[in-house]
Amino acid sequence: MENILDKYKSVSINEVTTWFKAGNIKDFPSNRGGCIKYKDKQIAVFNFERRNEWYACQNACPHKMEMVLSRGMTGSADGVPKIACPMHKKTFSLVDGSNLNGDDFSIATYPVKVVDNEVFVGFLE
Ligand code: FES
Repeated sequence: MENILDKYKSVSINEVTTWFKAGNIKDFPSNRGGCIKYKDKQIAVFNFERRNEWYACQNACPHKMEMVLSRGMTGSADGVPKIACPMHKKTFSLVDGSNLNGDDFSIATYPVKVVDNEVFVGFLE
């Protein structure tokens, strides 16, 4: 059976081949997440207004494969922006996707840029 997580791989800004327009900044709530679809991927996009930063990651939580990370709670741990899954509170770095609980699963992260109030997420395809 195909693992739904197989299609999610982190993309660094240097690898981006497609900047996908995710929406206008008004479409994303402050300090919370929104969910977009790119091809067969669900991507959570976070407007960290209090840090004046944007982040994107897979919407699927690798713990139980729930499509929920966009509804998680944003915060920071030792200065690292993080997302806590709303289901069982596993937390992940939004910088490199690492698991901050010490579990061995992580998430894919994607670059975000804002140009003229439009939000773009970078993909490698
Ligand atoms: S489904 Fe996300 S922490 Fe369990």
